[in-house]
Amino acid sequence: MKIVSIVGTRPNFTKEYAINDVCRAKGIEEIIVHTGQHYDYEMSDIFFKELNLPRPKYINEIVKGSHGTETATMLVFLEEILEIENPDVTLVYGDVNSTLAGALASAKLRIPVAHIEAGLRSKAWHNPEEINRRVADTLSDALFPHIKEAYDSLLAEGFRKENVYLYGDIVKDALLKIMKKNKIKTKTGDYFLLTLHRAENTESPKRLKNILEAVMESRQHVKFPVHPRTKDKLVTYGLFAKLERNKNIEILPPQSYLNFIKLLAGCKKFLTDSGSARREAYILEKPVITLIDIVWVQEMVKCGWSRIAGDDKKKILDAMENHNPNGNRPEIFGDGSAAQKIVDTLIQRYA
Ligand code: UD1
Repeated sequence: MKIVSIVGTRPNFTKEYAINDVCRAKGIEEIIVHTGQHYDYEMSDIFFKELNLPRPKYINEIVKGSHGTETATMLVFLEEILEIENPDVTLVYGDVNSTLAGALASAKLRIPVAHIEAGLRSKAWHNPEEINRRVADTLSDALFPHIKEAYDSLLAEGFRKENVYLYGDIVKDALLKIMKKNKIKTKTGDYFLLTLHRAENTESPKRLKNILEAVMESRQHVKFPVHPRTKDKLVTYGLFAKLERNKNIEILPPQSYLNFIKLLAGCKKFLTDSGSARREAYILEKPVITLIDIVWVQEMVKCGWSRIAGDDKKKILDAMENHNPNGNRPEIFGDGSAAQKIVDTLIQRYA
């Protein structure tokens, strides 16, 4: 059986880590194709090196521009490669523009698409990731939602049960693997960890200002690995110099997966607008303060471990001080064997 896996962004590479290991162990031919969406060393190459991923067989030119330009460039590139490789199945991950381009190129060539992390619905129709997910789901032949909520949404939308498989979240598989390999333990440190890169925040000077002012006012030690998009915007809005001068915020470059997980495992609380890192924090028993008003995993909020603060200064400050959950933390993300089960299902369906 031949699988083409389409990756392009940081969160794709860590998910690929979980799947690739299983494919290698089972002797399955998996061809990795890199769309060029993320291209900086710290956003791409370091993940391949650190996770011992095979070098992609095809790497697109650097993709820059609007979402339309980005997706169109990737589509042209992917169509050509899928025609050459003609795999039994194309694997796409998550909800980034690379996912959308991969699903579209493949479906048009009548190559079945399998979508990992299908079905997540925030009902925020304007959200770029929501659009990507919905379209990729529609074009997919096999759907692998990572949580029960997403599974239920797919069935409610009319996807056929025999094409939808609930095995858990490969984000958890990858996390458990890297922690075990590097003997990382969770402990409560004396710093907060902050990540911020979602379009809803970076496109709004007001939101960015509110969030960062709250963090500065807290006077807590906050480690802040800055995504290139966020850095660009902070410089444009004239906020970066102020941050650099601030003593309680420690500005860091984008982190490798291993270094990020170490930072996360050792923090006191996690402030974020990220989708995947939020789940990693929950699995690592960290109180999560969410800096975007979109809820992706309702259960994390319901059980009290994730608190939505958005860009509300008062709520952020209050959560930094008082969000100290210690109650029940249900196993929302499976048992760490999702990748294994997904690959087995791909073999059953497409070999
Ligand atoms: C993308 C995903 C987002 C995901 C995030 C993880 C979409 C719609 N968004 O957002 O869901 O959570 O990746 O990081 O696909 N840039 C660099 N260097 C790089 C990569 C990007 O400077 O290595 C710059 C680009 O030139 C662009 C900006 O950052 O100006 C945004 O990059 P883009 O890939 O469009 O989206 P992300 O913000 O990374």
